[in-house]
Amino acid sequence: MAPYRFISRDFPLVSQGEDSLPIWLLGKGEAGQVDLPAQVRQWADSAGFTGTEGRFLLVPGGEGELAGALFGLGDRDSPSRERHPFIAGKLADLLPEGTWHLENAGSDAARHALGFAMGAYRFETFRKPRDKSVRLAVDDSSLRDDVERIVAGVDLARDLINTPANHMGPAALEAVTHGLAGHYGADLTVTSGEKLLAHNLPLIHAVGRAAAEAPRLLDLRLARPGAAKVTLVGKGVCFDTGGLDLKPSSSMLLMKKDMGGAANVLGLALMIMDAGLDIDLRVLIPAVENSVAGNAFRPGDILQSRKGPTIQVDNTDAEGRLVLADALTLACEESPALVIDMATLTGAARVALGPELPPLFTDDDALAGELAGAAEAVGDPLWRMPLYPPYKAMLETPVADLTNAPAGGFAGAITAALFLQQFVEPHISWCHFDIFGWMPKAQPHAPIGGQAYGIRALFTVLAQRYPPRDLR
Ligand code: BES
Ligand code: MN
Ligand code: ZN
Repeated sequence: MAPYRFISRDFPLVSQGEDSLPIWLLGKGEAGQVDLPAQVRQWADSAGFTGTEGRFLLVPGGEGELAGALFGLGDRDSPSRERHPFIAGKLADLLPEGTWHLENAGSDAARHALGFAMGAYRFETFRKPRDKSVRLAVDDSSLRDDVERIVAGVDLARDLINTPANHMGPAALEAVTHGLAGHYGADLTVTSGEKLLAHNLPLIHAVGRAAAEAPRLLDLRLARPGAAKVTLVGKGVCFDTGGLDLKPSSSMLLMKKDMGGAANVLGLALMIMDAGLDIDLRVLIPAVENSVAGNAFRPGDILQSRKGPTIQVDNTDAEGRLVLADALTLACEESPALVIDMATLTGAARVALGPELPPLFTDDDALAGELAGAAEAVGDPLWRMPLYPPYKAMLETPVADLTNAPAGGFAGAITAALFLQQFVEPHISWCHFDIFGWMPKAQPHAPIGGQAYGIRALFTVLAQRYPPRDLR
């Protein structure tokens, strides 16, 4: 069964056909080590092709026909300079229409195939599609399947983020989650509108009640009796106006991406379910729009959380931590082995680490170690930041138990993480990713737009810990 797709697109890796054209990969100054046909070497020399990273050269045959292509990988990794791990992603753009294969990928075949497949992503729902079709022939079918699963998860996250809020409000996010659940035989329970109050999810209700579409909690489960319980929690703010503390227009422009945490955990859930990992899986998504109306929650309001502590709303734009607080409380009530949350939670995280490097917060050193190793191995970077206990004092406020927006904004990503930690049971292993959700500058494997963060690293760790039963 092919992986779930929200927006269907042809998977660019195909089985080895007879007439695919070769791509020769060349490191800088490594022409001597690569076994190139004599005419190809001569053509590269005459064109001054030396293997500079990302350089591309078509190769003609004897009759002027297209015979192949050369692609530069750049310098070998060195302490001062690293090759881009997914430089092969550029090929999806550079190659002419047709089917190609990598002639000399060697032990990097899997990484290049993944780079190519991630680089082939285009978001064309609302525009005339480019009509070029470039495919990469890969003969190892299990490699193709592994890449297809990863890329389906990554592309799901990208598609959900890229789809604007008028097409991806809480109801649409519910519909996609329903489609994903159905594809893998999972159950979806939805609690929406006033029912949120009856079910004691007051913070999700408060943040989302001013929007035209009702706020809701999406609760997806793929039960696997006896397996470890892992719960994913994703911030699903389908649009963040800031609420009554309205964002200025420049800050609001990109806020369709404020459901990036939800998009990423859904992408990760796809990978987990598709691979059949031995996990009793639950995904919790508070899906809301932080909007403005007469019934909006206000600055100064004091709200009661599901867990008990009261929260003074010092800024209605610090809404993500509110909806996540109730979702994390609910997650912990069944004592899962692991809780992972992902959220476009703070501008401060981007100030600290920039758009490409998501901060990871956890007190579980073993998990942090596994994640760091996986991040390095699969080229999905992340960086651990501290849940520095003394900063909990910044969450204090005179007339409520907690403030949602500490004054001054020092260490904003840390204080937001510490806020979430108040709603996680201390004995439960928990990690929190404060992601940007958006690639502002094109990368070889990622066009400008919605992007997956950390989920390939997370999937790698989960697959090591909880492999499918038939593989154990
Ligand atoms: N969704 C934003 C955070 C955000 C902004 C992520 C820009 C990525 C890019 C979040 O809801 C928010 O507005 N956070 C505030 C919190 C503050 C009011 C305490 C922020 O970061 O400014
Ligand atoms: Mn906000
Ligand atoms: Zn937000």
